[in-house]
Amino acid sequence: MAKLLIEGQRKLRGEVSLQGSKNSTLPILAATLLTEGENVIHNCPCLSDIDVAISILRYLGCSATRHGHTLLVDTCNLNDTHIPDSLMREMRSSVIFLGAVLARCGRARISLPGGCELGPRPVDLHLDSLRKMGAVITEHHGEIRAHTPRGLEGARIALAFPSVGATENIIIAASLAKGTTVITNAAREPEIVDLADYLNKCGAMISGAGDGTVVIEGVERLHGAVHNIIPDRIVAATLMSAAAVTGSHIVINDVISAHLGAIIPAFEEAGCRLSVKEGRIDFKAPQKLRSPGLIRTTPYPGFPTDAQPPLMALSLVAEGTTVFVETVFESRYKHIGEFLRMGANIKSEGRVAVVEGVSKLYGSKLKAGDLRGSAALVVAGLAAQGKTEIDTTGYLERGYEELDAVLSSLDGSVRKV
Ligand code: EPZ
Repeated sequence: MAKLLIEGQRKLRGEVSLQGSKNSTLPILAATLLTEGENVIHNCPCLSDIDVAISILRYLGCSATRHGHTLLVDTCNLNDTHIPDSLMREMRSSVIFLGAVLARCGRARISLPGGCELGPRPVDLHLDSLRKMGAVITEHHGEIRAHTPRGLEGARIALAFPSVGATENIIIAASLAKGTTVITNAAREPEIVDLADYLNKCGAMISGAGDGTVVIEGVERLHGAVHNIIPDRIVAATLMSAAAVTGSHIVINDVISAHLGAIIPAFEEAGCRLSVKEGRIDFKAPQKLRSPGLIRTTPYPGFPTDAQPPLMALSLVAEGTTVFVETVFESRYKHIGEFLRMGANIKSEGRVAVVEGVSKLYGSKLKAGDLRGSAALVVAGLAAQGKTEIDTTGYLERGYEELDAVLSSLDGSVRKV
């Protein structure tokens, strides 16, 4: 497994382009299963999670080939409805393939998905929703078997929580169902809108994505489409955190600033100056960071849970007290133990963490415990005095395309060994 060596306290400078969004690409790849004909998906990041999705498509008999950041996917030859445990365990979002295989074939067999350990991550909302649409689902020893005796039928589904994955699974399944599906309390994340945009290009009839209520009129068939994946808002937050803790001035290109609505004010509160124009963020950190105040993670349009770890890395060296309240996942503070090794001052209990900014962090040997936590360790390593060595245990590569090379191109000293 790769380790990262970071020489801290070096200023970053220059311009970078933002990678495509992992969390948009994954459901869109699952949704290609509904289509007849070729799909051309541009701006797909090169990540291990995307490789897993490609492996699932190929296992099912589909063709998926990568040409740089473009994926060509043709699912006409799909010949299996079972996704093996080895692939399901690789990532949480493999569960999105359930709705897609079921809608296309009328049956599906998967095992419970894996993914980052962020506390219990049940799939009850996914399964209950598909049941409402007429699926018969049984769970036995971690295996989920589903079939649709009368085909999938449109339904009214009120989600108890605006789950991103459940909303995606329903939108995908409902696109080929008989009749109309209405999801209330749907997730509103930009990745949901991207999925709906892709499916509508394929001939689906989805309205309201990005609002709390999504309406899907089922259609009989869908064709392939050409689609451009949206930029990754969480990678943007990570790069801004890296620039903030090193007192740097950088430019990030290919950004959709509307997706950063709750993120930008947190950086401004910390004293950073951002000028946002035509897909470009000009980011200037202050001499001394201030605490961003209260960071309370909530579903979109609130502050994203995925940006909590890098923002916590920023708060370690910001003057004053920052309070974090993690409302989305039960256990998303694995990075705290590693921050403490670097000399951070943090108290935490349950979903709350209180950070008192310190004047200095010290380079240390660290071990990543999940994807966004590993990115936060990189940010803290850039802020620290001396050398930091991070055992990323493969997490970073799941969501960040060559972060070491990106930061090196900005003059950071980050080396993969
Ligand atoms: C998506 O995960 C993202 N993953 C996550 O990003 C992100 O953190 C999360 O949404 C929240 O924004 C992808 O898009 C691939 P949820 P997902 O269903 O769909 C509970 C990253 O680092 N819940 O909205 O799994 C669940 O336990 C990843 O890129 C149920 O109780 O998130 C959690 O507490 C990590 N029952 C909360 O809802 C269910 O059936 C949010 O989960 C489903 C979810």
